[in-house]
Amino acid sequence: MADGSPLLRVEHLRKVYASGRGEVEAIGDLSFTMDPGELLCIVGPSGCGKTTLLKCLAGLLRPTSGLVEMEGSPVTGPSPAMAVVFQEYGRSLYPWLTVRGNVELPLRHKKLSRAERARAVADALDAVGLPQSARSHPWQLSGGMQQRVAIARAIAYQPDVLIMDEPFAAVDAQTRADLEDLVRELHLTRGISTVFVTHDIDESVYLGQRVLVLSNAPTRVQEDLVIDLPRERDQLTTRALPRFTELRTRVYEQIQRAKRGPIAAPRPAP
Ligand SMILES: Nc1ncnc2c1ncn2[C@@H]1O[C@H](COP(=O)(O)OP(=O)(O)OP(=O)(O)O)[C@@H](O)[C@H]1O
Ligand SMILES: [Mg+2]
Repeated sequence: MADGSPLLRVEHLRKVYASGRGEVEAIGDLSFTMDPGELLCIVGPSGCGKTTLLKCLAGLLRPTSGLVEMEGSPVTGPSPAMAVVFQEYGRSLYPWLTVRGNVELPLRHKKLSRAERARAVADALDAVGLPQSARSHPWQLSGGMQQRVAIARAIAYQPDVLIMDEPFAAVDAQTRADLEDLVRELHLTRGISTVFVTHDIDESVYLGQRVLVLSNAPTRVQEDLVIDLPRERDQLTTRALPRFTELRTRVYEQIQRAKRGPIAAPRPAP
């Protein structure tokens, strides 16, 4: 927003699940903001509440207490302003629809003419490098291609925020590198505000403008790190920079600290 106010504001977010085995505090006390146009990566130990956080951001889960605000208004339910890409692309695409049909489906909720819709689908498939696959079905594509379709579906919708939950965890290393570059490119060329959750430290540093490191339960922000690497990045040069190594070491150390839990206050000498 032009007035400098944040796009997303999370304040004292807490989420407790009530289950048969009692209560699970998935998020203790989280506060942070995100500016429009940012690419924010979130890392943290497994089970620390990353997916829970994203679901609260996307309005899919209600916080137990605290606030999630998008463009100044509280998020109270799923919002058309946000698109989510999950890890399990296999389950997120409809096998009976073509690639084009899958990308087009959410656009049916928008007031677009048929021609505008077709243009948005073609543009999104172009952007993810799949213009030839519009008539294929998802099961005819590789895992990496299916995840590209899921990304195309999200960007065709032109969300204010793109939320991604470990989207590349299930693809091979080469495909993963290509998809990382795709996210960077979409961010640079389209300026889409993106929240990207990963458990991969190198991925968070390579992708992010900023990395939030979350602690183990009770989950809080362990570190909020600005990634001062060049805007233009590539897999070989950027990862070979001394600064890249410094930043990944910093994130690694913070995650190790996060796993050890909060540091106890020093006891007064007896
Ligand atoms: N629906 C649920 N009911 C009860 N407990 C849940 C539920 N969903 C998640 N949890 C618990 O909340 C905590 C945080 O889970 P969450 O999935 O948010 O973690 P995560 O950081 O995304 O983990 P991972 O890195 O493994 O994806 C875990 O202890 C988990 O067992
Ligand atoms: Mg998760």
